Order: sequence, then structure tokens, then C-alpha cells
Amino acid sequence: MADLTTDIAGIRFRNPILTAAGPPGRDGEALLRCAEGGAGGLVAKTISVTAAQPPIPNIAEVQHGMVNIELWSELPPERWLEVELPLARSAGLPLIVSLGYTGDDIAALAPRVRPFADALELSTHYIGEDAAPMVEAIRAAKAAVDVPVFVKLSPLGREMARAAEQAASAGADGIVAINSFGPVLAIDPVTARPRLGGADGVGWLSGPAIRPLALRCVRDIARAVDLPIIGVGGISSGRDAAEMLMAGASAVGVCTAAILRGPAILGRIAAELDAWLNEHEYTRAADLGGRGVGASPGGSWSGQPEIVAAACNGCDLCTVSCPYRAIAVTDGLAVIDRTACQRCGLCVTRCRRGAIEWPVPASEVRGGQLPR
Ligand SMILES: Cc1cc2nc3c(=O)[nH]c(=O)nc-3n(C[C@H](O)[C@H](O)[C@H](O)COP(=O)(O)O)c2cc1C
Repeated sequence: MADLTTDIAGIRFRNPILTAAGPPGRDGEALLRCAEGGAGGLVAKTISVTAAQPPIPNIAEVQHGMVNIELWSELPPERWLEVELPLARSAGLPLIVSLGYTGDDIAALAPRVRPFADALELSTHYIGEDAAPMVEAIRAAKAAVDVPVFVKLSPLGREMARAAEQAASAGADGIVAINSFGPVLAIDPVTARPRLGGADGVGWLSGPAIRPLALRCVRDIARAVDLPIIGVGGISSGRDAAEMLMAGASAVGVCTAAILRGPAILGRIAAELDAWLNEHEYTRAADLGGRGVGASPGGSWSGQPEIVAAACNGCDLCTVSCPYRAIAVTDGLAVIDRTACQRCGLCVTRCRRGAIEWPVPASEVRGGQLPR
């Protein structure tokens, strides 16, 4: 077993797979189910000064993800204070309480939730791209509580590294990135209605569709600030988690996968991460820390894709999708025409059997396999 424990701003987590604010933490019971499901730490749904009244309907599955217009918690803060937070606390895991949104809101809420919180997470989702409201919220939280204050950044088109720098200057103790992306639109083609209610029917995209965006944001933030990062966006497997830790996160948050597949996915991701670490010769999850932050060799790579004959089963995935018609299957084996190949690299990631590799220096390979 690899060591999965992680420390963030002085808080120790048994594994780096946390819930992300949303339906998996919509109340105390839901949070307890996530703890039983194997989460390393709990993040509750965002609490604000009033209960949210989201449009109906407000969640829809789309290809590779989900769109939602859920807003924040539909429970009033009093209910959280009296029932839900004490219940969540009984799980015995670190509990991060998410609050929104303005400085005044945070000043009112932070001292009240403090007895239940190991850390606060401030959502910036509905306060726009201007840094000033975020800075006010951070200052209000820091003035009110003695626990770490994390800031969750939304990919609203803002420059994420710059926003993280501004959060750091205002005193944030960590960054959570990213929130869902949008606004986006999903349409039911039978009725021509948007899938979501609300004035425009628009919502926010989450799940695997936003994972590359989340990875890029986390990598940029890790390069810009010396703060711990909780990486969120499209994580649904141990390998996804490993990539996010390589991008510079110290832990990951999971929302969409825990909605679609239930809270036991959290423990499964942790177990898969453990297996992945063993397979790739890491003894601690922390050793992945930022391995990918400065790893790009830059510019154009040398070499070109090569077929691993022992792994190729002669299927036509690579031949069909090669934009340059540079691969043919002959006698059950893919063969690359080296002069036609333009070295785009698609086939390496398209092959489901790991039968096409881009040779890289042996020093970069962990666990006897090329990174994929
Ligand atoms: C239905 C739904 C509700 C959400 N509610 C919140 C929320 O209350 N506060 C918040 O900060 N993020 C909220 N999020 C965003 C998630 O915490 C997360 O940042 C985002 O969905 C990307 O992660 P994922 O791909 O694992 O879902 C919500 C996401 C979904 C899908």
C-alpha cells in the first residue's frame, strides 16, 4: 500500500480524495455517506445567508459531463448550524465548510460555522471576475476565524494564475480550482427546450468534459503561487487523480462522479490511486506533487510514434482516425508509414491497448510503461 495521506495548510487527510461542494455534500447525511464511501475529507455544499431557490429543473446529464443551475445550498444557514454541520462533524473526517459570497455575507457566516469547520472554502462563483469582491471575502473570513481559508476559483474567462496571486496577497491559505465552466446550453431536441430551467436555460458544465481545463488551471496556479491547491474538475478515476496531483494539486475534489456513480466512487478512486502508485513505483501520493508542473519538454518533440507489436490486436481504431492515412493493418498488425506520418501524436492516445508509444528517455518512464 502506498502512503495516501496528505497535509493541506496543517490539516491531515487520510487520502487525497475529497468531496467537492455540491449535491454529494448537500446535507449532513449525504456527507456521512461520502465518509462511509471512503472520502479523505468532506466539503459541504456552499452555504449563504439565505437558502437558494434554484430554477426547476436544475441538473441534466450531457455527453461527458453534466450541466447544472443549482446555485448554492437550498437549506438556510440556521439548519446547517443546528443539524447538518454537527452531523457531518460526527464523521470524524476533516470538514471544509463552503461559504458564499460577498464580504458582508462571509463576515456574518464565518464565525457561526467556525465551531464545525477545519477550514473554510469561499466560493467566488457569483461575484464575477473582478478581484475586489474576492479580496473582500477573504479579508472578512481571515478577520473572523483562525482556521485556514481556501478560495475556490471559477473559470469564468478570468486569468486563473492572476486570480490566485490576488487571493494569495489577500491572505488565502489555499486555492480550490476549478468550479464548473460556463455558462453553457444543453437542448432537448424533442421539445426544443433547454434542459435546464431559469430565464435563459443556461447552466454550468462539470465532469470529464472540463478535466483538461481544470488540469491547465491547476498547473498555472501551481506555477504562480506557493499555496496548497485542491484540484477539482472531472475526476472519476485513480489515474485522473494522479494526473491532477502531478499538475500541482495536493488533493482532489469530486462532485459529478459522486453524483452519477454514488459516494462509494470516492473510496474506489482512492483505491485506484493506490494501485496506480504501486504500479508506477511511487511509495507516497505526495511524491507526485507537481511532477508535471515544469515537465513539458517544450517545442516539438523528437522521434515519432512506434507500434508495440506484442500489444497490437490489429483493430482499426488508429487506421480510421489517422488524419494522414499513415497507418495500415497488415497481417493483423498496425504498421506506420514513417514518411506519411506527420507526428501529430493522436494514435498514441487513441489506441486502447497501449500498442502505440512515443519513445521518451527511459529516465522519464515510471513503472515500465510509457505515461499515457
Ligand atoms: C449539481 C452541482 C452543484 C454544485 N454546487 C456547488 C456549490 O454549491 N458550491 C461550489 O463551490 N461548487 C458547486 N459545484 C461545483 C463543483 O464543486 C465542482 O467544482 C465542479 O462541478 C467540477 O468538478 P466535477 O467535475 O467533479 O463535478 C456544483 C457542481 C454541480 C455539478
